[in-house]
Amino acid sequence: MSYEYRTGLGWDSHRLASGRPLILGGITIPSEFGLDGHSDADILLHALTDALLGSACLGDIGMHFPDTDPRWKGANSLQFLLHALSLVQSGGFELTHADTTVILERPKLKDYRDTIRQHLAQHLALPIDSVSVKFKTAEKVGPVGEGRSAEAQAIVTVRRRVAS
Ligand code: C5P
Ligand code: MG
Repeated sequence: MSYEYRTGLGWDSHRLASGRPLILGGITIPSEFGLDGHSDADILLHALTDALLGSACLGDIGMHFPDTDPRWKGANSLQFLLHALSLVQSGGFELTHADTTVILERPKLKDYRDTIRQHLAQHLALPIDSVSVKFKTAEKVGPVGEGRSAEAQAIVTVRRRVAS
């Protein structure tokens, strides 16, 4: 028995706004400002959702969950991730690894790394040592560095059995 391996890539960006929660990977981070958007604006889950969809060539998050649809207003983005995971699994793929980066000038996120990893691992049915969460600033340069927006990147590895 051998495996077909694939990777999927995802990226997202949202504006920062006061009076909004900062939710990353499903975890609410204490902050004076948060991410603006139609849903809960969880850029980490959106990037991961796109990475999963990309691994199985299933389009992108906006195709499955249009941000013009009132059903997704204020939506918990975990449902987007879980839907993408179930579509990928329906294609015969098994998720084996996820690596992510959040680019945000402040607040510092490193104290939340393991809480986010644990939460993602639980919902993705992965061991925690197969889920990576990294943080970067943009060194005060550009919209992220000036504190106007935040970005997230994700890459996933999936595999499915092929007859050898
Ligand atoms: O962007 P920079 O290389 O200066 O980030 C240094 C470290 O600070 C990162 O490796 C990360 O662990 C941490 N960091 C953080 N929260 C952020 C940005 C960076 O904890 N918002
Ligand atoms: Mg988004």
